[in-house]
Amino acid sequence: MSATRSAAPASGHGDGPAQPATALRSPALTGRVRVPGDKSVSHRALIFGLFAEGITRITGLLEGEDVLNTAKACAALGARVTRRGPGEWEVEGAGADGLSSPAAPLDFGNSGTGVRLMMGAVAGQDVTATFDGDASLRRRPMKRVLDPLTAMGVEIVDSAEGGRLPLTLKGSDRTKAITYETPMPSAQVKSAVLLAGLGAAGETVVIEREATRDHTERMLAHFGADVRVEPHGAHGRRIALKGRPTLVAAPVDVPADPSSAAFPLVAALIVPGSDVTLTDVMMNPLRTGLITTLLEMGASIEVVAERTEGGERVADLRVRHSRLKGVEVPPERAPAMIDEYPILAVAAAFAEGVTAMRGLSELRVKESDRLAAVADGLAACGVAHEVVGDDLLVTGATTVKGGGPVATHMDHRIAMSFLVLGLASEQGVSVDDVAFIATSFPTFMPMMRGLGAVIS
Ligand code: S3P
Repeated sequence: MSATRSAAPASGHGDGPAQPATALRSPALTGRVRVPGDKSVSHRALIFGLFAEGITRITGLLEGEDVLNTAKACAALGARVTRRGPGEWEVEGAGADGLSSPAAPLDFGNSGTGVRLMMGAVAGQDVTATFDGDASLRRRPMKRVLDPLTAMGVEIVDSAEGGRLPLTLKGSDRTKAITYETPMPSAQVKSAVLLAGLGAAGETVVIEREATRDHTERMLAHFGADVRVEPHGAHGRRIALKGRPTLVAAPVDVPADPSSAAFPLVAALIVPGSDVTLTDVMMNPLRTGLITTLLEMGASIEVVAERTEGGERVADLRVRHSRLKGVEVPPERAPAMIDEYPILAVAAAFAEGVTAMRGLSELRVKESDRLAAVADGLAACGVAHEVVGDDLLVTGATTVKGGGPVATHMDHRIAMSFLVLGLASEQGVSVDDVAFIATSFPTFMPMMRGLGAVIS
């Protein structure tokens, strides 16, 4: 066992005292807000900035802990990363072949996206790096990324049991281009292979049976790589990347994160009298499964001023309190709303009838086992539900008791979801720890309070 393997968990909220909080039944929520920048786009903007020649200027970057850890990792790998103002960052790239081995382990805190994408980035370079994270990230599977990366030529120098963190990879600037069909729908796995493919001589191909968020492909093209995306089967895609491109710095304007917007959005739907507008929300069709589902449930969501900004569709969303009804959510929609099931389960708690969410196996390997965490939280709040295999069935009611404390398991989305439930519940909802909300939505509490939510 190396020194790294026996090291204490990397720093982050895993170490600090838990911060409990309570959300109480609230008056109508009203106002107009812009939630922080998209987490997926923010990670990628920094990583592409690292590889590019020149200075990448980013506006609207999410300044949450997950992304800040990626920024630190980019700096440790050779980029010059500078914060110019709120959300305004510059990355002076190391350029192709310019990455250097970091002196200390890279700490990704709570972030699966940060660590998995960066493993891909290192794989195609002549670099050795150690990857680590908090207790939640140390439990998550990394084999899904290590399998294709080892096929491409990366060497696993050391790892914890089962290929988990902490682990050390030795990349190679002579990686093999491969054709890889992802065994599960995962944008992180796809992105890791494509980033490793930047260092390979030939064409790297990723085939996905179900299309997942395509921010990596879009950004590859934006920074000048030769990338072709074609449909594959009924729901999938084939992505082909020509290796060893010269990436050139390009500006990135990060739109508001639809996965963060989901929380005030559902809060407005379930708190009587609410009327909230969420501005600049990214409407990439591979991210809008929640909106599709809520519209089917009868939600009043008006899509206003839809436009294209920085290569992504964005819109303002006007959301009003609505009477919802239960629906079937088909498994093929999961990739377009994978992070939104906890908050959809909250909406479903207030809908008439049963909402059946199918095919949620990937929820078990998120920041927590989200299927179990949601089910336990619903039970603590008096919401009728059932887990059948990988399906979650929630039976809604006009009144929901509330309760708690809900165990959040180091998972930001579990914390935010159950606080939102509390706003429309009879007794309020307490959660055991809100510290991890800072990973993705550091302004959640003040922003919700600004809309009228009673949370403390
Ligand atoms: C992400 C991909 C998804 C998602 C995560 C962000 C990304 O994970 O849950 O929050 O930015 O690529 P998987 O690739 O594991 O589905």
